[in-house]
Amino acid sequence: MIPVSPLADSFGRVMCDLRVSVTDRCNFRCLYCLPETEEAANFYRTKFDAVKNPNPLQPAALQWKPKSQLLTFEEIERVVRVAVARGINKIRITGGEPLLRQGVEQLIARIAQIPGVEDLAMTTNGFHFSQKAEALRAAGLRRVSFSLDSLDEKNFKRMTGRDGLSEVLAGIRKARELGMNPVKVNAVVIRGINDNEIEALADFARTEQLSLRFIEFMPLDSGHTWLADLVVPGREILQRLQARHALVQSKPSHAAETARRWKFADGAGEIGIIAPVTEPFCGFCNRLRLTADGKIRTCLFSLGEHDLKPLLRGSADDAQLEERLRGIVWQKEERHHIGEPGFVQPERSMSCIGG
Ligand code: GTP
Ligand code: 5AD
Ligand code: SF4
Repeated sequence: MIPVSPLADSFGRVMCDLRVSVTDRCNFRCLYCLPETEEAANFYRTKFDAVKNPNPLQPAALQWKPKSQLLTFEEIERVVRVAVARGINKIRITGGEPLLRQGVEQLIARIAQIPGVEDLAMTTNGFHFSQKAEALRAAGLRRVSFSLDSLDEKNFKRMTGRDGLSEVLAGIRKARELGMNPVKVNAVVIRGINDNEIEALADFARTEQLSLRFIEFMPLDSGHTWLADLVVPGREILQRLQARHALVQSKPSHAAETARRWKFADGAGEIGIIAPVTEPFCGFCNRLRLTADGKIRTCLFSLGEHDLKPLLRGSADDAQLEERLRGIVWQKEERHHIGEPGFVQPERSMSCIGG
């Protein structure tokens, strides 16, 4: 369905993809997102002089948003409806950890019924997925992306700050059993932490018939401790895998796809490389983000946010909401500036933005 007047930005990009964060809370403490443990602090301390950030952890008391500031399911549904009427056709539910939001399957069911929603997916750390999988599937969830950065119990804990590898693996298998294909797995690679597992993760994709995407570490961590030296360039990951396997590159499924993908010439499964740092893909970006507290972010790296709550909780009608959305989209940033002089990392971490 081509809308009369889609949501376009000032660079001619048309928005199709809305990522909806339903909570800023998380039960994990990933090194690249919400680092918390002393081991995490020590890792970062060895990597940079104390001047950059003497306390490389999240603020001691995490300030979760109070419930009253979170959008209700009715409010989220309304934003989605208005956006879908203007050409958004892909919705991804994110967090924090979206399965921590009570009754999230009810929200899925509401969104799945909106005419024009062609794709409804979720990004989860997978810890609670097995228990909720059937309800989510029945509610209309079509696809899931799991975060899994390590297949080694000890390293998993180092990476996520928690034990939970077996639960996550069970979640991934459950998604496959339910036919939520392709099941995607996201592995953020950090040099010196899990880069020794690249080959093992690729083998896992083969044996479990998954789409495993290696992601470059981006400066979106709560401790603001990101360093370019910690990024393993996508090119390097690919070369390592090509030395081991015959890989055949797949055609992009759409222009805005974040991953470049390769199939194994001799078997099932595929690997993807998401290289936003060394090979940015902003030119085709069609993504918008709605935070759990009702702010639209036009870029992962936006320094400003656009609060929809006053409209949603005031007397604005849908036409006014749409007009506001249109004005916001017009201001979408051309690209990120990671690595350039003067780059400023957004205040909020990925746990509040949603991936
Ligand atoms: P689908 O096509 O819906 O499966 O989603 P996707 O391929 O875009 O993947 P997904 O939404 O799972 O995103 C994977 C990862 O890519 C995220 O966790 C981020 O790390 C990164 N990513 C996604 N969108 C953007 C973006 O707009 N900009 C940048 N720099 N990175 C992004
Ligand atoms: N850099 C790259 N990807 C990240 N993610 C979270 N933080 C970062 C980061 N700093 C990704 C993880 C997770 C998703 C929610 O976002 O892969 O799956
Ligand atoms: Fe890890 Fe995702 Fe939680 Fe961040 S939001 S700590 S990436 S599981």
